[in-house]
Amino acid sequence: MYKKQILITGGAGFIGSHVVRLFVNKYPDYHIINLDALTYAGNLNNLKDVESKSNYTFVKGDICDFDLIRSIFEKYKEIDTVIHLAAESHVDRSIKDPFLFAKTNILGTLNLLEAAKNLWNNNLKNKLFYHISTDEVYGSLSDEGFFTETTAYDPHSPYSASKASSDHFVRSFYDTYKLPVVISNCSNNYGSYQFPEKLIPLFINNICSNKELPVYGKGENVRDWLYVEDHARAIEVILHKGKIGETYNIGGFNEWKNIDLIKVLIKTVDKFLGREEGASEKLITYVKDRAGHDYRYAIDASKLKEELGWQPLLQFEEGIEKTVKWYLNNDEWVSNVVNGDYKKYYQEMYEDK
Ligand code: NAD
Ligand code: DAU
Repeated sequence: MYKKQILITGGAGFIGSHVVRLFVNKYPDYHIINLDALTYAGNLNNLKDVESKSNYTFVKGDICDFDLIRSIFEKYKEIDTVIHLAAESHVDRSIKDPFLFAKTNILGTLNLLEAAKNLWNNNLKNKLFYHISTDEVYGSLSDEGFFTETTAYDPHSPYSASKASSDHFVRSFYDTYKLPVVISNCSNNYGSYQFPEKLIPLFINNICSNKELPVYGKGENVRDWLYVEDHARAIEVILHKGKIGETYNIGGFNEWKNIDLIKVLIKTVDKFLGREEGASEKLITYVKDRAGHDYRYAIDASKLKEELGWQPLLQFEEGIEKTVKWYLNNDEWVSNVVNGDYKKYYQEMYEDK
């Protein structure tokens, strides 16, 4: 008999795999059910170290398939918590295919909300629907100010618009049906197992292969970076101590202009590759700006710090060194992702089941 049964969606992705790992290892008395469609961003190689643990179950499935979601909730009747991470997550892809983002991020979330509402209908005690969102819903800041939990939503990309919409649906289920929900909005994550289309892993990979580093616009946009394991710990804290109906902002208190971050990354990779530090700056190539590119994100995470006692543990310099080392030591993981071989691992196991 498990103390908790947690359905984690998107657990084969970047952040999801860290969240699954944390809960499976730290809470042997929790049953972790990882529901993931294994899109291009889902990779079971991210979870090889926990896949045989007895408190872990993987289910391949799409959150947009309502019958499937209902059948999972029927099969695992004891699910008392949902941590919802599954999403299309890359802004550049959302500019090319906004419909996919609306489908997964909005309709997929609505499906899960409806299924949880139906399952928990008669007993909402000790239940929690925890929705993982992003700081991008708040829009773009100038050089001053921070996003707080009460900042008005002002999304600009199809990705952030779809996440904002899903956040609104989550809140509407709290207001309308009293579904016990909590939302957290986090800043940019970095660390191991991130798909190399996002800035940091893409640039590490390109520096290693002496490929151009495509800097959008003038490289002056600002992001607030958080080590992914610190995000997973924040999720753990909010799940156990967060107040129902609340929103918590999660951030690194760690703002960087893209170009400054890129130069630190270059120095670090050069150092580990035995190149002259900074030599790879010649790879920097300024390219056309991202359409609708938000200028600055900066999170005020003081509510989470003051009310629930969370703060980031890893300093950025240490986090970047750890991250660069991980990608250099795991070149097989990177090359499998880049050449598509990572799909072979699970195709035979899960395809069409
Ligand atoms: P990711 O793209 O690495 O992983 C997404 C996961 O969701 C993948 O495993 C994918 O297979 C799965 N998925 C996609 N569509 C699905 C569907 N229809 N059904 C079931 N599974 C599906 O994303 P990530 O960077 O790990 O982000 C996870 C969550 O955190 C997202 O909700 C994202 O909006 C949010 N977030 C991300 C960041 C960041 O910096 N990466 C920051 C704040 C919030
Ligand atoms: O803020 C949280 C968000 O952070 C998450 O919700 C998203 O899921 C996640 O992808 C991330 O969004 P960004 O758009 O900020 O991340 P990305 O890594 O794509 O880009 C970071 C910055 O670097 C951004 O200003 C665009 C720039 N960039 C990115 C790429 C991929 C470049 O200059 N060149 C690039 O090739």
